Amino acid sequence: MIIIEKIADLQAYIKSKQVKSVGFVPTMGALHEGHISLVKQCVQENDLCVVSVFVNPTQFNDKNDLERYPRTPEADQALLRAAGCDIAFMPSVQEMYPEEDTRQFQFGALETVMEGKYRPGHFNGVAQIVSKLFDAVLPNKAYFGEKDFQQVAIIRDMVKQLQYPIEIIACPIIREESGLARSSRNTLLTDEQRKKAALIAQVLTKSTTFATNNTVAETIQWVNQQFTHDDEFRMDYYEIVDGNTLQPIDNWNDSDFVVGCIAIYLGKIRLIDNIHYKG
Ligand code: PAF
Repeated sequence: MIIIEKIADLQAYIKSKQVKSVGFVPTMGALHEGHISLVKQCVQENDLCVVSVFVNPTQFNDKNDLERYPRTPEADQALLRAAGCDIAFMPSVQEMYPEEDTRQFQFGALETVMEGKYRPGHFNGVAQIVSKLFDAVLPNKAYFGEKDFQQVAIIRDMVKQLQYPIEIIACPIIREESGLARSSRNTLLTDEQRKKAALIAQVLTKSTTFATNNTVAETIQWVNQQFTHDDEFRMDYYEIVDGNTLQPIDNWNDSDFVVGCIAIYLGKIRLIDNIHYKG
């Protein structure tokens, strides 16, 4: 595996390999098994696998969150090497943003709900960096985790708007033994919080049973109630949405693809997860 920091070097190296297919996994580092599952799939499906490690400042609407975000470049390199990655692209902020990126993307209703509503500007920052990375890598396929369910929809929309000839591949959520969705942010939890955090996946799973005899509104209420017994949990939102449009549904029959999406604080750490009710 080669480590590259400059866009020009990355492009020259990829070109020199003269491969048929380039796969790409964008990450913000602090890699865990969730990322590594994407990298392994990318390695398997492409001649060349490029992984970027870059904590993108423009997608953080909270400065403390950006400062707190875990950074483990050496461990990341070791994990990527072991997973068979060919190129680790680890640029500086200066390299990715030599000047301010003032582009404003429009994602319509896709960005007015959930993460878009609670983290204003977040998806604009995601689109800024992912488009810059796509321009740098020019991949055939790019891999994203389904834990960030709304992000995948936004990226697909961006690819359509900018007419990138890139196939977006959404990969299943990888979970810890307790069921907790793997996330770089999990390392910021204390041991006790990490145990408590298992409740999130447990509640989501149980809610699919609850949903069989109850309305959408009752299911949302039930999920919210399950987190009221512990002061450390603070719900940002629990939404049950159409999996394509991301708009909240009123009745289970409103869509064939129904997903429940949660964002919840445990202490100071914000965690997200989702579950499929249908589709
Ligand atoms: O999902 C992430 O880790 C980030 O949002 C991404 C796609 C790497 C862009 O910075």
